[in-house]
Amino acid sequence: MKKITIVGPGRVGESTAQIIAKSEFCRELVLLGIEDGLTRGIALDIQETAPLFRFDTSVTGGDDPAAMTDSDLVIFTAGLPRKPGMSRDELAEVNLAILRTVIDDVLKYAPNAILLLVTNPVDILTYYAWRWTGWPRKRILGLSGVLDGGRMASFIAKETGFSVKDINTLVIGGHGDAMLPLTRYACINGIPIDQFLDEDAIKKLVEHTRKGGAEILALKETSSAYDSPAACIAAMVDAIALNRQRILPCVAILDGEYGESNIAMGVPVLLARDGVERVIELPLTQDEKQALAASAAAVRKNIK
Ligand code: LAC
Repeated sequence: MKKITIVGPGRVGESTAQIIAKSEFCRELVLLGIEDGLTRGIALDIQETAPLFRFDTSVTGGDDPAAMTDSDLVIFTAGLPRKPGMSRDELAEVNLAILRTVIDDVLKYAPNAILLLVTNPVDILTYYAWRWTGWPRKRILGLSGVLDGGRMASFIAKETGFSVKDINTLVIGGHGDAMLPLTRYACINGIPIDQFLDEDAIKKLVEHTRKGGAEILALKETSSAYDSPAACIAAMVDAIALNRQRILPCVAILDGEYGESNIAMGVPVLLARDGVERVIELPLTQDEKQALAASAAAVRKNIK
């Protein structure tokens, strides 16, 4: 890619910028924030790691939206984070208002970009980004399942003692308390996890995954997770920038898949150069269908 812009150089945005710069996913990386000096300072700080990490990415920052001109990818990490005890949905009003102004800038300066939403409630912001841009759904996506699935894999590794490198997971649905960790699709090098974990342990795993973000928030008190979200965003950017044709769970706009339309939520997608090339539809059991419908209903209520 030629150019990537990160809007919102908070903790998630800054950590993401460091990984993207270091990985040379683009030639130019732009950070956009509301505080010009602070944003320029963050960019300069990252740029000065270049001789150590040996990358050629140019990193700049500031408050002028025109700096995003002709970006191939815009990553939206701006907005308020949760405070301990808050649900992601309580952020909807304030973060949608911030998104609204940024969408106008994106339409003006980067009308051909792919837009990756990170800010919570991410399903709701992804949906409105799609509505407000009017872009084809392949160019709008959000971070959810890579993060939730990564957490689930970490917990399985801890519980079994096996290497995390062999663990595959899949979490779909809304990025909220009703998310759906598909335990039937979780495996250790192809071996289903129920070969190693009993029903009770798997149930706990599901609950732990659902509460994974809140657990970190409760411990840190003044911040949500940012290292793991940044690593997950980088994995998604890598799939797009290097046209890898990866199947990753992302927030996508649904158009009939899983019996849902006019909604954004987490599903496995084929991620490549043009963004969401395809939504992968999986056969689900009756129970899984019900749980996914409940998760979709929670998202839909918030969209309204
Ligand atoms: C989390 C927040 C960032 O899951 O949604 O950690």
